[in-house]
Amino acid sequence: MNGMNVLKLRKMKAGREKIVMITAYDYPSAKLVDEAGVDLVLVGDSLGTAVLGYENTLAVTLADMIHHTKAVTRAVKRAMVVADMPFMSYQVSVEAAVANAGKLLQEAGAHAVKLEGGMEAVPAITKIFDAGIPVMGHLGFTPQSVHRIGGAFFQGKTAAKAVKLLEDALRLEDAGVFAVVLELIPLEAAGLLSDRLQIPTIGIGSGPKCDGQVLVYHDMLGLNQEFQPMHSKTFASAGQVIKEGICNYLQEVRQGSFPTTGHTKTMEPAELEELEKISAKPL
Ligand code: KIV
Repeated sequence: MNGMNVLKLRKMKAGREKIVMITAYDYPSAKLVDEAGVDLVLVGDSLGTAVLGYENTLAVTLADMIHHTKAVTRAVKRAMVVADMPFMSYQVSVEAAVANAGKLLQEAGAHAVKLEGGMEAVPAITKIFDAGIPVMGHLGFTPQSVHRIGGAFFQGKTAAKAVKLLEDALRLEDAGVFAVVLELIPLEAAGLLSDRLQIPTIGIGSGPKCDGQVLVYHDMLGLNQEFQPMHSKTFASAGQVIKEGICNYLQEVRQGSFPTTGHTKTMEPAELEELEKISAKPL
């Protein structure tokens, strides 16, 4: 059992202690974020865009999520691992939603699942929760609905829409979610939701009033060289460092300065003598 759990997260909210979540999709990244001390590791379906080169998250499958969550859970010792339920793994039927959430825990070792949506997601959330599985909600901009929304736009910009988000959030809380991601919601609306909910809110692009924050690993470490979302910040230029390392390697191989004899092993003298005798004879 890892150190973080749903009760500790509630206590952190009550004690106004900020909750930190970062995505990870493989063993080395998960080990780094866990050792750094984050509270929650999200195996997000942003896997699709951050790692697999898709345009959006819709092509990510349950098999993809299980594969990557397994790598993450092998590495994480301390944090709570939340696995995203991918598109169409919980929308078709409540039965399929429970079975698929179960696979993310049973086969992949996740501690909790996350799924997108407001009131329409309540039946699935209720059944998954009833099966003993912790569920995280996700409101605001919900990437799996990108085509219905028309783009990655802020949600809840009018008073009426902010109130609708609050109603959705309260329904999710009643259904049993232990926390809710608020993605691209204006500061004031995110503040209102954070004040009214007992459960922690985890913001992304929703400002400092949320109880915690989540960022995508590749965005915050400068690994996404093509695009930096407005809501993210580059905390380290790891992409630049990696590129420099690769250029140095390339140059040294081409110049002949890598590898040296120190990067390999030499034969035992007797074996070398034997080899020299053999190689002196025509084959
Ligand atoms: O998939 C993901 O990484 C997410 C975060 C953006 C919250 O859902």
